[in-house]
Amino acid sequence: MAVLVTGGAGYIGSHMVWELLDHGETVVVLDRLSTGFDWAVPDAAKLIVGDIGDQALVDDILSRYDVDAIIHFAGSIIVPESVADPLGYYLNNTVKSRALIECAVRGGVKHFIFSSTAAVYGTPRVIPVPEGEALEPESPYGRSKLMTEMMLADAAAAHGFTYAALRYFNVAGADPKQRTGQSTRGATHLIKVACETATGKRAHMEVFGTDYDTPDGTCIRDYIHVTDLVNAHYLALTHLRGGGESLVANCGYGQGYSVREVIEAVKRVSGQDFKVVESGRRPGDPVAIVANPDRCFKVLGWRPAHADLEEIVRHALAWEEVLVRRNRV
Ligand code: UFG
Repeated sequence: MAVLVTGGAGYIGSHMVWELLDHGETVVVLDRLSTGFDWAVPDAAKLIVGDIGDQALVDDILSRYDVDAIIHFAGSIIVPESVADPLGYYLNNTVKSRALIECAVRGGVKHFIFSSTAAVYGTPRVIPVPEGEALEPESPYGRSKLMTEMMLADAAAAHGFTYAALRYFNVAGADPKQRTGQSTRGATHLIKVACETATGKRAHMEVFGTDYDTPDGTCIRDYIHVTDLVNAHYLALTHLRGGGESLVANCGYGQGYSVREVIEAVKRVSGQDFKVVESGRRPGDPVAIVANPDRCFKVLGWRPAHADLEEIVRHALAWEEVLVRRNRV
């Protein structure tokens, strides 16, 4: 019996692979290496380089490795990029997810865990936002993921598998054991960008928008340590395998930080006073979004171990040093 991790050569996927291996699971990774790296996949997992939309390949993997669960990370994840290339996002995140779900149904896969996103809420009216709030995504990215949530719900009802759609807030940090981290080239995510600037890989960084209706004028996000996030997936897998019902759950801590607060934390932890330039708003950015994570606590028994912004930043910075030492930058 094996778990198929799509996108397992990427940032969050590779952490998931380590989490599964740490729990003694057999892991198969399917990744086309468009943004991920073969070296990010541990030797103990089987890496198959290919596309999730290639149904002949997926059918073959599911039967060959006796896959009982799919954890589906593969997809495109950058909000402003989705505004510029919506059809690319609907292809990668919606159309190809549909193809993968169809294979899962055909192959009798029992459980499906999906990387969803806080972007499905848009700018929530209630903060911290619970799962039952209105779903009004503000970007093609959020809409492309929401459609996949809907497909999963309908397909699970029709075909008898169970699923978890986990809505990630802002994922950051790296494996505390430094086995993997965020290695994306040309990254756009705030903590990664700030850590690259602190370690001299960028000359400066920008703050996108300082005129939002927030205490310091910059956007507010709920930053979650990647290790806690993948642990929530493992708990979701255990829940579903134990006969638990399908669920949709927020993955965040319920604590928001502004862009300026995050940059200050990176400066403090790194001891570097790097250059920060204020610029205009970035398209598709909601002003403030913070999770109500109660469902993860109650249904999955999730107990985050790294809910501390400085710890997230410390691990992210440590990973930047690892990338330099291993000549991966
Ligand atoms: N930001 C900057 N400068 C940068 C990078 C980001 O000011 O160099 C700002 C953004 O404008 C935004 C905030 O920092 O206000 C966070 O931006 P990120 O790019 O780090 O993350 P997003 O909030 O755009 O998106 C991420 C994930 C989504 C998820 C969302 C949930 O990519 O999958 O968090 O809030 F849905």
